Amino acid sequence: MKHLLKLSDWSEKEIIETLNLADQLKFDKKNGIEHHHLKGKTLGMIFEKSSTRTRVSFEVGMHDLGGMALFLSSRDLQIGRGEPVEDTARVLSRYLDGIMIRTYAQEEVEGLAKMGNIPIINGLTDYCHPCQVLADLMTIREHKGMLKGLKLCYIGDGNNMANSLIVGGIKVGMSVSVATPEGYKPDADIMAWAAENGDFTWTSDVLEAAKDADALYTDVWASMGQESEAEERKKIFKSYQINDSVMAVARPDAMVLHCLPAHREEEITAKVFEAHADQIFDEAENRLHAQKAVMVKCMK
Ligand code: CP
Ligand code: NVA
Repeated sequence: MKHLLKLSDWSEKEIIETLNLADQLKFDKKNGIEHHHLKGKTLGMIFEKSSTRTRVSFEVGMHDLGGMALFLSSRDLQIGRGEPVEDTARVLSRYLDGIMIRTYAQEEVEGLAKMGNIPIINGLTDYCHPCQVLADLMTIREHKGMLKGLKLCYIGDGNNMANSLIVGGIKVGMSVSVATPEGYKPDADIMAWAAENGDFTWTSDVLEAAKDADALYTDVWASMGQESEAEERKKIFKSYQINDSVMAVARPDAMVLHCLPAHREEEITAKVFEAHADQIFDEAENRLHAQKAVMVKCMK
């Protein structure tokens, strides 16, 4: 039994094995070959925040793997009326073979893993989004044929995506640069770890971070749970946008990635988004293949 609570818990070898399995599952699905690795198993999917991609990729993925997935919205669960997550986990462990949870506090996900005795998969917290980054790495490797030595640049808010991209990028040997406003840096411990373990730079200067990048990445300026700060953040993040000037300093063949949903003319211009839509929607598709690989790794 294995959890995916955050990417830093997984070794480079485990990450690469997961990407290899995801590639194989993608290829086989396109060729009509089914793999019922999780036949008869049930995944519970607890959502305390909205989701399109995560929900659908896990649900379809579980079906592809011969199992089934249950959508459990916290609005309908007793969690929404105050039943502790720890009790919920202990009950659900008796019915299910795995839980995927999207919530606010990382501690809640770590707590579930301690209390239950089934695999727990993090479907996004305020701290990180490991499943997304596995799909992102898969997409970069698919388009560039490699990961090691490539420069990945993240521009925007130092949020859950930034944290996981730093960890994932450094683990697979990419050079990672991040540009955020001074008060909105990624997690301090993650930045310190990255600087010790690989080629990592943080700057508040977007063009400096984007210089010679092979892949540029951005995400919304206000994440789920930060809706009340959205207007203030629009002012603070105004220059933290992927646009033509940023593309001009990156490598001519630079990819553009976005975890979605995207806010055009905020973190990315509509022009750059549409010019790189094939890459961005390959990335969204790869959520399915990567999530299947994660479930096989954790639940088989
Ligand atoms: N990128 C991502 O996690 O999308 P959803 O919020 O739609 O699941
Ligand atoms: N940072 C965003 C990612 C959404 C997939 C959020 O947490 O809302």
